[in-house]
Amino acid sequence: MRHAKHFIAALCVVVVVVGAGATVLALLVPRGFTEEHGYRFRKQALVEETQKPLTYAPEKSCLQADCHGEKAPEERAIELAGGHEQMGCQACHGPALAHVQSKGKEKAPVMPEAVAELTAVCMHCHKVRAGLPKKFGSVEDFESHRSDMGGEDEETCVDCHDPHTCEVD
Ligand code: HEC
Ligand code: HEC
Ligand code: HEC
Repeated sequence: MRHAKHFIAALCVVVVVVGAGATVLALLVPRGFTEEHGYRFRKQALVEETQKPLTYAPEKSCLQADCHGEKAPEERAIELAGGHEQMGCQACHGPALAHVQSKGKEKAPVMPEAVAELTAVCMHCHKVRAGLPKKFGSVEDFESHRSDMGGEDEETCVDCHDPHTCEVD
């Protein structure tokens, strides 16, 4: 009889702990949480992601003949060179879907003129870091590079380098 009492007490503790655990789990796990193909995720998240508006255009639309391609007027024709030829225009310019869809009426995001923002875009790839091949052109620190090259304060990378051809002007 004494043993039965202990057993019931222990059982109660287990029931309370498991019950509390299940309640906390039910409160914390988002609705629709599921496991498929070995991944755990909230199913509605897939729908939400596909409903986000697109902002980037397919890269090939930038170089269509009469846009920025070979047949465009000279001031608009852009040819990437000097190491940048594999880059997407939008890697620097930012999302340009509205510009493409409006056939140029809507302005494309041109690079920010602010020194800090523009250098941040260039330095994202050109900052010296461990693992970069030695021959990859990189710059330890913008300010010292600029003063080594005889630049003035407020000058950005593109005051000296053409961002499209990488040539020094
Ligand atoms: C490495 C970054 C980078 C890439 C890649 C890039 N651009 Fe630019 N682009 C710039 C910057 C920076 C400016 C502003 C230049 C300035 O103010 O002197 C600019 C300016 C322009 C301009 C204004 C006119 C001019 O020539 O200055 C056009 C048009 C343009 N880019 C189109 C393109 C297209 C099209 C592509 C893809 C084929 C492209 N860009 C790729 C950085 C880039
Ligand atoms: C997405 C990465 C990326 C961004 C952003 C980028 N570049 Fe480059 N750049 C490269 C690669 C890759 C090369 C070719 C590798 C090399 O030769 O150093 C290159 C080459 C260059 C070179 C020639 C280096 C040499 O050794 O002759 C210059 C100059 C240059 N970039 C300047 C710029 C400037 C200025 C900007 C910003 C407007 C910029 N890059 C933004 C990836 C980038
Ligand atoms: C005052 C002008 C000036 C400014 C500003 C400037 N550069 Fe340069 N940069 C030069 C000159 C000049 C060279 C040497 C070119 C050569 O030797 O052919 C050079 C060389 C480079 C190289 C090649 C380095 C190497 O070791 O091969 C890269 C990459 C580069 N610059 C990127 C940048 C980036 C990114 C910025 C902005 C964060 C920038 N530069 C700002 C003038 C400038």
